[in-house]
Amino acid sequence: MPKYKIAWLPGDGIGIEALEAARIVLERLALDAEYIHGDIGWQFWCQEGDAFPARTIDLLKHVDAAMFGAITSKPVKAAEAELAPALKGKGLTYRSPIVRMRQLFDLYICLRPCKAYPGNPLNFKEGLDLVVFRENTEDLYSGVEFSPVPAELCGTLSALSKPFSVFSSLPGDEYAISCKINTRRGSERIVRAAFDFARKFGRKKVTVVHKANVVRATDGLFFETAKQVAKDYPEIAMDDANIDAMTMWLLKNPFNYDVLVAPNLYGDIISDLCAQMVGGLGFGCSGNIGTKLAVFEPTHGSAPKYAGQYKCNPIATILAAKMMLDWLGETAKGQALEDATAAVIAEGRVRTYDMGGSNKTLDVAHAVAAKL
Ligand SMILES: NC(=O)c1ccc[n+]([C@@H]2O[C@H](COP(=O)([O-])OP(=O)(O)OC[C@H]3O[C@@H](n4cnc5c(N)ncnc54)[C@H](O)[C@@H]3O)[C@@H](O)[C@H]2O)c1
Repeated sequence: MPKYKIAWLPGDGIGIEALEAARIVLERLALDAEYIHGDIGWQFWCQEGDAFPARTIDLLKHVDAAMFGAITSKPVKAAEAELAPALKGKGLTYRSPIVRMRQLFDLYICLRPCKAYPGNPLNFKEGLDLVVFRENTEDLYSGVEFSPVPAELCGTLSALSKPFSVFSSLPGDEYAISCKINTRRGSERIVRAAFDFARKFGRKKVTVVHKANVVRATDGLFFETAKQVAKDYPEIAMDDANIDAMTMWLLKNPFNYDVLVAPNLYGDIISDLCAQMVGGLGFGCSGNIGTKLAVFEPTHGSAPKYAGQYKCNPIATILAAKMMLDWLGETAKGQALEDATAAVIAEGRVRTYDMGGSNKTLDVAHAVAAKL
């Protein structure tokens, strides 16, 4: 029996090619694992009306970890139009499988390390090493949304909220409401995860990102909770910044920051910004981590225009595999994989188009594997 069961979820477009690359390096490391394919993505929406079929959900209940490529998502009406004729008009609504996965398996930590590997021509500045902790299940991603707005909700909000009076006379189909829901528990556990990480890896500071001066209820709760949690980690400095200012400061003085923690949407924004500072979509790796399951992925999407061309940079996905190895406790293999990847980047002989080269996706994987 292999030591680990890994769900293997390629998804769509370049997700398939990137995962193929990651598999080459994992096989080379001889990880004692069984890789079990899971169906996910656009094809399953079109054919079955579910991009994240029940059999894949069941698979994820029985594995140690998962590697996920990328999926194609489309707006509700475009998604409905591509359904198989027999499924049309049945009230099926497309929902992003990755958002569902995060909520269903309570993968509450979105961990996004952003490191500038020496010699990467895409680095904004050499030496950057930022780590973003994004809350992954709440906030504006809670899925509580209304469009059109039902009359009962309009009535309730009119009775409870003075600022709502500006909207209360609008017809329900002239506005929409998306709820930002943050809990004390959800805020506490993501902030604690950030501080625990800082303590474990000797990081000096955690920066809490919010907009509590304007979004007072939800971000206020997040920030107040963060301040309480910080008291348990006296050796680690804490500061905070509004999300808007944060994007400026990150570009201006990126070396002032170390570990960043934020509610879901702000975390999404700053992690993309940080990823861009260390090479962009070809370098952004991510772990969706819960207490029982963790799913690792590149942060890029399916890039349909490059699908099937083996042009994409697989380094984000290879680094996601490194994160998975660390999470499984295979830290020596994780370190070896990171060192090999860093060596390929530094040498600069094998590069995909985004790094100014002409190599193919699997050339990079083979180059990394050859260093292992
Ligand atoms: N987690 C996910 O699965 C995920 C994330 C983002 C977008 N999406 C979906 O992916 C589809 C395409 O979205 P998009 O075009 O906005 O974003 P995308 O990340 O797929 O690609 C945008 C562009 O970035 C570049 N790029 C992306 N990954 C790259 C890589 N590894 N190497 C080199 N260049 C790379 C390409 O030029 C590409 O056209 C949409 O359907 C979107 O909903 C999925």
